[in-house]
Amino acid sequence: MGFDSKFIDDLKTRLNVSDVVGRKVKLQRKGNRYLGLCPFHNEKTPSFNVSDEKEFYHCFGCGEHGDLFSFLMKTEGVSFIESVQILANEAGMQMPVQSVQEKQKQQQRIGLYEVCELACQYFQKQLFSNNGKKALEYIKSRKINQEMIMDFRLGYSDEQMGLIDYLKKCNVPEDAIISAGLARKGDNGLYSFFRDRLMFPITDVRGKVIAFGGRFMGDSKAKGVGKYINSPETPLFDKSNSLYNLKNARKSSYEAGKMIVCEGYMDVISLTQAGFSYSVAPLGTALTEKHIMQVWKSVDLPVLCFDGDEAGQKAATRSTERILPILSAGKSVEIAFMPDGCDPDDIIQNQGAGEMKRILNKSVSLPDYLWSLGNAKISVNTPEQLAKLEKHFTDISFSIADKNISSNYRSWFNNLIWENHKKRKGNFKKSGYKDKYLKPLGANVMNNVKLPATQQKVMLAGIINYPEIFHDLEEKLFNFFDNNYLNLFSKICNILSNNEVCSETLKNKLYKLGFENELNQILNEKIYQIAKPTIPNLKPDSCRELLLHMIDVFVAKLEEQVYQERIRQSLLEGKEDVEQIEAEAKLSTRLIYTHNE
Ligand code: UTP
Ligand code: MN
Repeated sequence: MGFDSKFIDDLKTRLNVSDVVGRKVKLQRKGNRYLGLCPFHNEKTPSFNVSDEKEFYHCFGCGEHGDLFSFLMKTEGVSFIESVQILANEAGMQMPVQSVQEKQKQQQRIGLYEVCELACQYFQKQLFSNNGKKALEYIKSRKINQEMIMDFRLGYSDEQMGLIDYLKKCNVPEDAIISAGLARKGDNGLYSFFRDRLMFPITDVRGKVIAFGGRFMGDSKAKGVGKYINSPETPLFDKSNSLYNLKNARKSSYEAGKMIVCEGYMDVISLTQAGFSYSVAPLGTALTEKHIMQVWKSVDLPVLCFDGDEAGQKAATRSTERILPILSAGKSVEIAFMPDGCDPDDIIQNQGAGEMKRILNKSVSLPDYLWSLGNAKISVNTPEQLAKLEKHFTDISFSIADKNISSNYRSWFNNLIWENHKKRKGNFKKSGYKDKYLKPLGANVMNNVKLPATQQKVMLAGIINYPEIFHDLEEKLFNFFDNNYLNLFSKICNILSNNEVCSETLKNKLYKLGFENELNQILNEKIYQIAKPTIPNLKPDSCRELLLHMIDVFVAKLEEQVYQERIRQSLLEGKEDVEQIEAEAKLSTRLIYTHNE
């Protein structure tokens, strides 16, 4: 159903983002915006901003961003339409009227939902009847407990006409039974699509049954039937867009911040039983772009589980080929490989949840996975092979549609190729110096370079004498202090982030905490002479200005250093296109400092 944008706009103007968000997040007013602890990541100091005027929320910590509707979708696991319905209801607005055609389509869908629900209930009842005895025993033999049987609404479809008779008794027309994918028409009337199978109902994001999977419990090969069969595509069921257990996984993923994508029904159920309730699986198809986009609505970094055998490796390669083109800022996947021939269900049943957890913890990032895959495929002993490897990674980078990410992947792989295949030890006398700067992008220059000692003291003197300016500097300061003052700085952060404290109180607290020595080094005439605005009881504005200026100068110096090293590095790699070299250097420098902007 499409809404006209006017309806959405009206709705937005009637509701405040802060009211909707405020029910989940404690917000504090700061001028024309609100500030609170981000519900999308773990944080101690608030960086989650809400602006009623601009109608959005934004977290400077994790980058989460959206409007009223996306906030509900993310925190309640509802669809866009549902979020509109909920909010329209609150705002006392009538949902827009649909066209006749839309209505008919909708009604047909509603009909099919009912048919699927009836079938699901029928299969469930069958499982606990005489007919279903074998199936129930089979599930128990797979160590699935009663709670899971009920939660996943497992069922049994018999070999005969049970379901069809039942649906007809409920006045469901034959057409609808066929449209719902539950039966087909043969020479002698309808016959059931699922016969003698353990049934797994498939739901949409709202939890409504839209299709089924059925497992044959005997030797499917000997019988010449599929081990699993899934409902055909119907007006309700689009395989490329449906994930098993998405509704429940979404809910748990919101709290856990994780989502696991595995391969099968039984894996999802076993994982859930073992406590990994944020698990989903595609349904008899490979992972599609739509699946991944669905998963990214809940988490940025889902873990994809693959069997460690060759088939699993192939599946992983295919999946990554589909994911690369659609990568976007912050969104990617991690990959976990199960030991040869095992799926998550095998691991959990044979080795326990602990082993599963260990395997998940060892999952690798997408670029790391691609790097090892490429190197496993192409061994480099000659310049030609090296060129082949380079081409391989250039092609991968070019397959990424997002320009920024594509170019980041290029530099990333170039760095790795340099480090692993090109660098010749002993070429440079100052190899320690070189090593420091030739690490792959993301090298922690920021962690190694600190403010000069005197500047650290000036900075601290300013903050201690003017605690009111702390919040303007806080985000920029995080990495500048070395071991001499780090402890003191983090205590100051603790004190100031929780309370509004005046300079005297702050000093007293710090004395009590045993920082007398440090305070004597900092709060003295020598420092005040060097940096007059830090002298107590003057104007906080001049002090703020001085400290901000110091930070800017220092960051600029660091940036320049990193920038020059990036260029140097490209030249060492034999690159010649100066424009390209400079653009890349600029980009990778910016990447390191974006959180400082
Ligand atoms: P698997 O054969 O790995 O099944 O197929 P599984 O989940 O481990 O099931 P068990 O443990 O043998 O019971 C993985 C998924 O591929 C689809 C199903 O969705 C299944 O869950 N599949 C598999 C089919 O659609 N048809 C088949 O014949 C086999
Ligand atoms: Mn299995």
